[in-house]
Amino acid sequence: MCGIVGILGKHEVSPAILSALKRLEYRGYDSAGIATVNKGVLDRRRAVGKLVNLSDTLVHDPLPGRVGIGHTRWATHGGPTVENAHPHRAGRAAVVHNGIIENFRTLRDELTAEGAQFSSQTDTETIVQLTSRLLEQGRTPLQAARETLARLEGAFALAFVFDGEDDLIICARRGSPLCIGHGAGEMFLGSDAIALSEMTDRITYLEEGDMAVLTHGGAQIFDADGNQTNRPVTRINLDTAQVDKSGHKHFMAKEMAEQPAILKAALGFYSGLENDSLELPEGLDFVRTDRLVMVACGTAFYACQVAKYWFEKYAGLPVELDIASEYRYRDPVLGPNNMALFVSQSGETADTLAALRHVKSHVAQVISVVNVPTSSIARESDIALPIHAGPEIGVASTKAFTAQLLVLAVLALEAGRARGHLSAEDYARLLEDLRSLPGFMAQALDREGEIERLTKMLSQARDVLFLGRGTMYPLALEGALKLKEISYIHAEAYAAGELKHGPIALIDADFPVIVFAPHDGLYEKTVSNMQEVMARQGQVLLVSDPAGLKAAGEVPYALQMPPVPELIAPIVYAVPAQLIAYHTALHRGTDVDQPRNLAKSVTVE
Ligand code: F6R
Repeated sequence: MCGIVGILGKHEVSPAILSALKRLEYRGYDSAGIATVNKGVLDRRRAVGKLVNLSDTLVHDPLPGRVGIGHTRWATHGGPTVENAHPHRAGRAAVVHNGIIENFRTLRDELTAEGAQFSSQTDTETIVQLTSRLLEQGRTPLQAARETLARLEGAFALAFVFDGEDDLIICARRGSPLCIGHGAGEMFLGSDAIALSEMTDRITYLEEGDMAVLTHGGAQIFDADGNQTNRPVTRINLDTAQVDKSGHKHFMAKEMAEQPAILKAALGFYSGLENDSLELPEGLDFVRTDRLVMVACGTAFYACQVAKYWFEKYAGLPVELDIASEYRYRDPVLGPNNMALFVSQSGETADTLAALRHVKSHVAQVISVVNVPTSSIARESDIALPIHAGPEIGVASTKAFTAQLLVLAVLALEAGRARGHLSAEDYARLLEDLRSLPGFMAQALDREGEIERLTKMLSQARDVLFLGRGTMYPLALEGALKLKEISYIHAEAYAAGELKHGPIALIDADFPVIVFAPHDGLYEKTVSNMQEVMARQGQVLLVSDPAGLKAAGEVPYALQMPPVPELIAPIVYAVPAQLIAYHTALHRGTDVDQPRNLAKSVTVE
């Protein structure tokens, strides 16, 4: 959350900082700002709202200079105002910050007592006030930055520039990601490598506790103990087409459309297209595992919830499941043969990372399923399994969800084979089912026109209910989350059998109810619950296959899906769940890629 950028360039840096911030805007878009040092003079520009407002400000009031830092904000302390926008400045220093300074009240009281004048409500301003005081006391920028960092508690990534210093940026990370980019006579820093992809492909990922001193000539890196250290330079392969809309109206549209190709590539990675078995990293020990603990947040949590059914059914493996923000504060009872599995698109979600650290020394193995292989969660796991979805820019997760599901299905089948729970025939059949996934995803996407028409009625609703049983229940939860996020319609999901225990009281003629019910072993049960809704005039939209729609008889609204094997049904039905949210949001005219109050990569608690 919040994106930060820094550039020591050969030319004016403001335009390049703006363009890098554009690539980070998914991390927050409440306000933005840039500070540069030009011939020794530190100056800044800030604007509330999307980056385009900052860009307009710079047209009227340019900011020259060959060294600078920039920020796009997701507000934590203090509302989205110009005063609260970064960079924050005090005296000779300016800072951009991602994260939360937990002891900011103590620091602020101390600094105020010594005469500091605060101009914002943010925790960030305490950082720069502290640095400024140290500079006034005669410290060099490096000493001041170091002493400031020693006083800070919490999770952060930050970068400083200093008045009088045309060749210096100091940056540090503790708990939030930060990487350095290397150019020819130029240096860059960013919250992630995507931000820097237009400028360099040579990246150094800072480690936990690192501080770096950047000049035009290079970087000096210090570890958490203050010792100078070397961190490897990696060549990254980030095609800039991966981070543009490639002709689609929104990133979300592009990312939904990419799903068949991504899943095909991921299948190739985990099974080879011809092999009759799956290929997984060595060391994955499902035989010894007596319990699988799965932890994640949001959409990634719903992927785990689907996978729980798979691990139980196909591998006979006991599963415990929790959301990370709860799990990290529980006293979980763990055994030496438990395996812990963390799922995260970004690999940087603060709660998921904290949950991982909470269990790491108490379980046999820590596995992660991530989209960013260089992320903290990947690096701190014993084995990290990439989902190969490519950068996901739309704030609402789509392709990462289905790719997470694919990798979790692969793991469940592998666990079933390794534990002798699946016969050779069943294993081979299920593998074939997995291989049919890309084709079915393409067929599901073909329903878009119909979904666009059906969602006109949804866009008028105040509330929407989603129902499903078995793996369709977490899918219903995901459908409701997507709709809330991007259309701002209140939506809830229930296990269909739970409806009569309370929520059915809500049903009336104005209440659309979306039912996910493929014609499987639970179909009859789900459809009985659907009839109970229809008997109370609820406006049902049944999403099912031809057999399911035929057996249901008359329903107010129906969406036909292809008949799909049971294993992959929750992955294929994710497509209508996503398209329903997307088109409802378009009918309502909301901002699909950057919905209000949200940000991708939630690096705060
Ligand atoms: C919803 C969404 C979020 C994320 C959640 C976890 O569309 O994207 O609910 O799934 O914030 O993020 P990661 O997967 O990065 O840990």
